[in-house]
Amino acid sequence: MKRINNPKFVITILLLSLFVSCKNKTEESQITENKSDKTTYSEEDLYRPNFHFTPKKGWMNDPNGMFYKDGFYHLYFQHYPNGNTWGPMHWGHAISTDMVTWKEMPIAIYPDEKGYIFSGSSVVDVNNSSGFSKNGIAPIIAMFTYHDMDGEKAGKLNYQSQAIAYSLDEGQTFTKYSENPVIKNLGIKDFRDPKMFWDSIHKKWLMVLAAGQKIMFYSSLNLKDWKLESDFGDGIGGHGGVWECPDLFPMKVQGTDEVKWVLLVSINPGGPNGGSATQYFIGDFDGKKFTIDASFENDLNKSEYKSIWIDYGKDNYAGVTWSNIPDSDGRKLFVGWMSNWDYANVVPTERWRSSMTVARQIELQKENASYRLLFQPVKELTKYKSTKYKKEDIAIKALTKIIDSDAIDLSSVEIQFKISDLKNSGFTFKLTNKQDDTLAFGYNTSDKNFFVDRRKSGKTAFSEKFADRISVAKRTSTNVNISGTIILDKTSIELFFDNGETVMTEIFFPNSPFDKLSIEPKDQEFILDNIEIHKLNIN
Ligand code: FRU
Repeated sequence: MKRINNPKFVITILLLSLFVSCKNKTEESQITENKSDKTTYSEEDLYRPNFHFTPKKGWMNDPNGMFYKDGFYHLYFQHYPNGNTWGPMHWGHAISTDMVTWKEMPIAIYPDEKGYIFSGSSVVDVNNSSGFSKNGIAPIIAMFTYHDMDGEKAGKLNYQSQAIAYSLDEGQTFTKYSENPVIKNLGIKDFRDPKMFWDSIHKKWLMVLAAGQKIMFYSSLNLKDWKLESDFGDGIGGHGGVWECPDLFPMKVQGTDEVKWVLLVSINPGGPNGGSATQYFIGDFDGKKFTIDASFENDLNKSEYKSIWIDYGKDNYAGVTWSNIPDSDGRKLFVGWMSNWDYANVVPTERWRSSMTVARQIELQKENASYRLLFQPVKELTKYKSTKYKKEDIAIKALTKIIDSDAIDLSSVEIQFKISDLKNSGFTFKLTNKQDDTLAFGYNTSDKNFFVDRRKSGKTAFSEKFADRISVAKRTSTNVNISGTIILDKTSIELFFDNGETVMTEIFFPNSPFDKLSIEPKDQEFILDNIEIHKLNIN
């Protein structure tokens, strides 16, 4: 495909580069902390993540409209800048050159008389099929859901519709299309979250939309006129709540040329450990219709599944993938919202609310005739790592300290471990602090469950649903080795077990930073083959 290019880009790109060169540093807030008195912390010090994206101020939920162009990853997000709970939705905007450090930009799309700006997606219209190009600049087209609050309050059904807007300045500002909405409501109450993509196999624009408890598939040649092709979802997968924020993309099965289509569907409530979560389906797509793969459907029919989730922790929701990643890169790159509608509005931060997960690469594996997605932190994190601790063959007979107070700052690390012979035991890692707040996580051989237990992790009383249970995830890998990558920030843990086959993401709010890490056996001693702790020098 021939790219439209224009020298004006160079100037815009230079300006964006300038923005990014100063990292996602938050505005200096009133720091109340007395540095010598380690018992009082400001909200910024204790809870503002070191490297996960948060808005400077105000509310944030779903990631929206992510695209890559000319060296920049763009991330938009559901945002209410004037309050710290959900409110009139805008699209906030942030940019990054590596998906690790982010620079927040001015708001990209504002609500108007037609409604709030709900979740959606963006594509780079390289061939100007929309006709919005000017002076040879390839337009960026965003599609979002208009949510008409008055219509909703009046008890109407048709208060959500799909609209488009275009940007000719590298996604900084958008002009709404004069003929909006481009897809009127069909009398369906929940009708939202359009995710568009260029289908290079069938040579047309496609879009997936959540409609009640189904996904609808649309196609277009000009990004303005959309044709409903089919739907999917009746009687399959989890239906414990509303379906939201779908995504559809083809993927090669690891190590083969076989191509399968992946459909992500977020659902709220109805997640495996309560509240919001994202399930997925593997199948085929002929340009009009998605058909679930027979072996995947068979897996879903097994009593232990019903749904297969991209993440079994409570805090990874509404995540979707970046568009326009160059073929030379070829990765499927994902980010999710690190919270849960069960308590997102009341988590104990005032200046801002919530953050995104670390950006993740998705791969598709086929093992024993079962397709499974693997999620791993993006490789761009590697350049920020420095190894601080490395040990092999540690006999774990009882509670064993790995890191003791202040030896390593545990609020910005990646930990990797491997256990090759767990026998009939299990293991529990424990993060603790001076107050004995404890975040526990690990694996039980008896029930084959990975788990995260934040019941005593610090502040939990803000919501009954926050720490009502131990979150669990059935192990699906049959590998004799259990290995994991753990990403720790001040208020989040992201666990990637078995190469990312089972993922658990959870947030927590300790009374002071966790500064000790230990591990203990469940029933029987075992050897911890290997543990490495890498500092992530991001802030
Ligand atoms: C998912 C969601 C979307 C909606 C947006 C509103 O978290 O409910 O379905 O577009 O949030 O902010």
